[in-house]
Formats: sequence, structure tokens, C-alpha cells
Amino acid sequence: MRTQVVIIGAGPAGLLFGQLLQKQGIENVILEQRSGEYVLSRVRAGLIEEGTVRLLERAGVGQRLHREGLVHEGIEISFGGGRHRIDFRKLTGKAITIYGQTEITRDLMEARSVTGAPTFYEAPAVSLHDTSSERPRVRYRKDTLEAEIECDFIAGCDGFHGISRRTVPEAAIRTYERVHPFGWLGILSETPPVSPELIYVNHERGFALCSMRSQTRSRLYLQCRVDDNIEDWPDERFWGELKLRLDPSAAAAVVTGPAIEKSIAPLRSFVAEPIRFGRLFLAGDAAHIVPPTGAKGLNLAASDVYYLSQAFAEFYEAKSTGGLDTYSDRALARVWQAERFSWWMTRLLHCFPEDSGFDQKVQRAELEFLARSVSAQATLAENYVGLPY
Ligand code: FAD
Ligand code: PHB
Repeated sequence: MRTQVVIIGAGPAGLLFGQLLQKQGIENVILEQRSGEYVLSRVRAGLIEEGTVRLLERAGVGQRLHREGLVHEGIEISFGGGRHRIDFRKLTGKAITIYGQTEITRDLMEARSVTGAPTFYEAPAVSLHDTSSERPRVRYRKDTLEAEIECDFIAGCDGFHGISRRTVPEAAIRTYERVHPFGWLGILSETPPVSPELIYVNHERGFALCSMRSQTRSRLYLQCRVDDNIEDWPDERFWGELKLRLDPSAAAAVVTGPAIEKSIAPLRSFVAEPIRFGRLFLAGDAAHIVPPTGAKGLNLAASDVYYLSQAFAEFYEAKSTGGLDTYSDRALARVWQAERFSWWMTRLLHCFPEDSGFDQKVQRAELEFLARSVSAQATLAENYVGLPY
């Protein structure tokens, strides 16, 4: 088999990239190691920037997003028993949208099936070949058989644990990493949101976040130990701990109910450099990870594939390699901005086990500064709503 672009991974990066290529008339095949149902069952991101909304519209999947997505004009930061609103609209003129990654994935899958472009599910890529030549190849497994696709380019959109980045020789890649000393325990429940806007909580017992998916569905997170197991957190413990970390009026507004999903995510900051190796391009979590505190992961996956789709359009339409040559630098400049911001938000809001009394006092002083300084709030808001493309 032969195609123009082989995309490895059908997460948001791979599916959105595939859709943007379809719009440009560039032939592509997606390989995904899991089933479509499994990909749809992963509850992850929920907050998307306006730039990402525009890109999803351009990919032809804006309709349900506009119908069902919740436009939020600010967030609240809670500490010391009180809440402080950051007004994104007033400070930046922009807003954010709450729309689950699962829904974006579903919309992209449906749009792809309409175009008839091939996606092979339960078909892991097993090896990449000749990535420095003009005819790279990807070997993949389907059932018990192995097959090969020849292509012009390979897009490694296979997440942090995928194979694309790992096939790059060590001498050709540099990685930067920080593993944070805690995780996020997340639940989804059929209960109304604690408050109309997201509440990010700094508390001596640990960080908490009250988010949502709709007016009847909550998405809630608690900072937990990295070595905690799901079994350590029965629903009653989760709700009890959440109430302890919230201010009294938010705690009183909590409606409890059974968790319909529960998972623990480790917190990590990671960047690979460069993210182009001959005819192999990395995008999304395959290239970089941010802790979810700044809600940047999916938005970065979107900006990567936007730059890459532009580069491929230039290549196929104008025979220019300019966009391909600058992809890595362009995408990584944005990635480092998001790494810095995500790290700053994580540092501001979490309990660090190694923190001294001095560190804790400085963290509190920073929160108090944020609560009263309009320019500090404007900086946070500007980062939150996303940089222009
Ligand atoms: P993935 O979603 O990991 O997809 C990669 C795909 O590749 C997977 O389907 C995988 O099965 C497949 N694959 C792997 N190996 C192979 C192989 N060998 N062959 C074929 N397929 C393969 N981001 C935000 O922007 N906003 C948020 O609010 C936010 N909240 C988050 C909350 C949590 C708790 C977590 C964990 C993450 C959050 N993120 C958020 C981050 C966001 O979910 C990720 O950045 C996003 O999923 C990255 O998409 P991706 O397509 O690059 O990778
Ligand atoms: C979510 O709704 O899942 C969510 C929102 C904001 C974040 C992280 C996750 O910072």
C-alpha cells in the first residue's frame, strides 16, 4: 500500500491532522493501536482555547462544539477560604470553551468516516523505516499479520508512550523532563457543576479543581500521591476530601453522586527537541507533555498539527520545503511558552511535599498578589486563553 502521509495514532492530534489534510486534498492513512471505543472512553481534556475552536471549525467539526460547548469568560482561584475571579473577557477580550476531548474525538471520527479516509484500528505501528529517504515506510500489525505502507511522510501522533519518538537515535534527539511529585485523581459524575465557572483550589491538603462537561455532569480533580491507587479512593473519600479543600460556600454547593469514571494521572513536564527527523514529524503528546494545570496539552496538539498541515500544504502545492524546515522551531517556541505557564500554574496551586515553611509563605504571597493585582491577573488570563497563532 502507498499513501502520501501515514499518521500514527488516532488521538486528537492524529485525527485533527488527518482532517486538515483531507481538507487540503492530501491523502493519508491513520494507524491506531487501540479500538475506536477505547479511544473514546479516555476522559481527559476539557478546556479549549479560541484558537483551537477556530481550527476545529476549519476542520469542519465546529457545529456540535458551538451547540453543546460551554463558553466561559473567566475562572476562579480559591485559597485561604475565599475565591477570586479572573475575568478573561474583560482582561483579554477572549473566552475559553468547555467541551470534552471525548466529544472532539467523536466529532473528528465521524467527519473522517464521511470523507472515507482509511483509519485502521487495533493496528499498532511496529516499526518505521527509511525515515531519512523520500520513501519512508511504516510496518504495522493487524490481527496476526504484518503489513507495510509506503509514504512521503510520517506523522508521529502516538502520544507520550508511542513508538515514533523512541525510534529516533539517541544522538539525534534531546529531551527535557521534570516529573512532579504528585498526581491528579479525576472523577466524572452525573452531578451539576459545583459553580458556573471552573474553580482552581490551593489548599494545605492539596490542589483541587472543579470542572464540568455540561450543566448536569461534573469533572473533578484532587491532587493525590503518585503511588495512590484507584482502590484507595472510594467515592465517599473523594467527595469528603473535595469538600475539605473547598471554601465553605463551594463545599455547601457540592452535589455528590457515583463516579462514572475515575482515574489517576501522573504530572509531568517533557519536551523533545527537535521534533522533525528527516521525513518523520512528531506532534502532540508524542513530542511534549505539560502538567494539566494550565489546560494546554490538547491545545498544543492542535497548534502542532496546524503548523504541520500548513507546511504540508506548502510542500504539495508550491513544492516548497520552507514550512517543513521551520516546523520544529515554530511549534517548539509555542510549546516552551506553554511549558513555562503550566509549570508556573502547577507551582502556584499545588502542595509540594518538599516545600519548607518559607516556600509555603512565598506561594501564599504570590496568590495574594494575584488576587489584588490586575496586571498579574491579565498575565494569567493572557496565557490561559492562548497565544495567537
Ligand atoms: P493521545 O491522546 O495520547 O493519542 C495518541 C494515540 O496514539 C492513542 O490513541 C494511542 O493509543 C495511539 N498509539 C500509541 N502508540 C501507537 C502505535 N504504536 N501505533 C498506533 N497507535 C498508537 N489538555 C488540554 O488542552 N486541556 C485540558 O483541559 C486537559 N486536561 C487534561 C486532564 C488530564 C487528567 C490529562 C491526563 C490530560 C489533560 N490534557 C488537557 C492533555 C490532553 O489530554 C493531551 O495533551 C492530548 O490527549 C494529546 O493528544 P495526542 O493525540 O497527542 O495524544
Ligand atoms: C477538565 O475539564 O478536564 C480540565 C479543565 C481544566 C484543566 C484541566 C482539566 O486545567
